[in-house]
Amino acid sequence: MQQVAQLLWAGNGSAVDAVSGPTRTAPSAGGLYPVELYLVAGNVEELKAGIYSYDSSTHTLEMMQEGDVRSELTRAALGQYFIEEAPMTIVIAGVYERTTRKYGDRGRERYVKMDAGHAAENIFLQVTALELGTTTVGAFRDRDVKQVLGLRKAEPLYIMPVGKPEG
Ligand SMILES: Cc1cc2nc3c(=O)[nH]c(=O)nc-3n(C[C@H](O)[C@H](O)[C@H](O)COP(=O)(O)O)c2cc1C
Repeated sequence: MQQVAQLLWAGNGSAVDAVSGPTRTAPSAGGLYPVELYLVAGNVEELKAGIYSYDSSTHTLEMMQEGDVRSELTRAALGQYFIEEAPMTIVIAGVYERTTRKYGDRGRERYVKMDAGHAAENIFLQVTALELGTTTVGAFRDRDVKQVLGLRKAEPLYIMPVGKPEG
């Protein structure tokens, strides 16, 4: 649970910048923060299996659905079996309107995806620091991932299964 909290914070947590004040751990075009993190927990100590959303402002998890959905998520990601085997997976999603409201098409075509990339890189770095393992998965059926997670406004952009590396 401690590791989960650290990973989510690194990806999209609240932070305070000495110069500009309250901010987040990853940059965002226009400071609009369209990125949302979801956790699919299967085998995490002190955490029931289920789907959770991460609230950046309070650094808390809200359970959206109880139960292990790792095999459903694997199917939505074209059978990439390591998702099912990993104890937990972080899904990075973007709410396009938050950015397109100000930047129009450029928000959809570029900025939201760039923002998601920053979150993913931060999670990568934190995973490495915790001596865990991950990869970024972009091959999945968007509609199926949305359905498994029960997402409405947020579009899934990256799936990051996290686990303990072998050997
Ligand atoms: C945009 C993007 C999408 C990716 N999608 C997948 C994927 O669906 N499945 C997978 O196993 N790896 C995926 N990867 C991981 C790449 O295959 C991997 O980064 C590459 O082979 C280099 O390996 P390394 O990151 O271990 O150096 C993706 C990477 C990126 C950047």
